[in-house]
Amino acid sequence: MKIHLFCLLITGFFFVSSNGVEVSTLLALKSSLVNPMDHLKDWSLAKNGSSLNSAHCKWTGVFCNSESYVERLDLSNMNLSSRVSDQIQGLQSLSSLNLCCNDFSTSLPKSLANLTSLKSIDVSQNNFV
Ligand SMILES: *[C@@H]1O[C@H](CO)[C@@H](O)[C@H](O)[C@H]1NC(C)=O
Ligand SMILES: *[C@@H]1O[C@H](CO)[C@@H](O)[C@H](O)[C@H]1NC(C)=O
Ligand SMILES: *[C@@H]1O[C@H](CO)[C@@H](O)[C@H](O)[C@H]1NC(C)=O
Repeated sequence: MKIHLFCLLITGFFFVSSNGVEVSTLLALKSSLVNPMDHLKDWSLAKNGSSLNSAHCKWTGVFCNSESYVERLDLSNMNLSSRVSDQIQGLQSLSSLNLCCNDFSTSLPKSLANLTSLKSIDVSQNNFV
């Protein structure tokens, strides 16, 4: 009984903390972007702290899998510039990244190579160097 409860607690802890990583990664990405049209204005924590569940899955351009891990990011056509943070490697389930049609003129983060789930990436219509 005790062991069972302990396992439940551990599982719960990992679930919450993994999603916490997803949320803090998204916020770090946002903070390294210049977002002139404020398309990412809903990328923020709820005031009551309820974001430990899947609130980030409803943010603009964020699409999660059934376990609330970010699976797809669609940041196309947002006039974004500055740079994509290396912290993007925190999104370990990311399989599709769309950065099309923005104003990026920096280099892509080297840490993309660490995203082993990544299958599709669209960086067209930018000035990535
Ligand atoms: C927290 O806020 C969100 C939206 O801001 C709301 O949907 C949710 O019900 C709130 N949760 C609690 C526990 O008050
Ligand atoms: C992007 O910014 C340019 C000028 O910086 C503006 O002319 C254009 O309308 C913007 N496009 C979008 C989709 O917001
Ligand atoms: C990729 O992951 C490895 C291992 O965690 C880390 O040492 C390395 O710095 C990462 N690469 C980048 C470019 O962040």
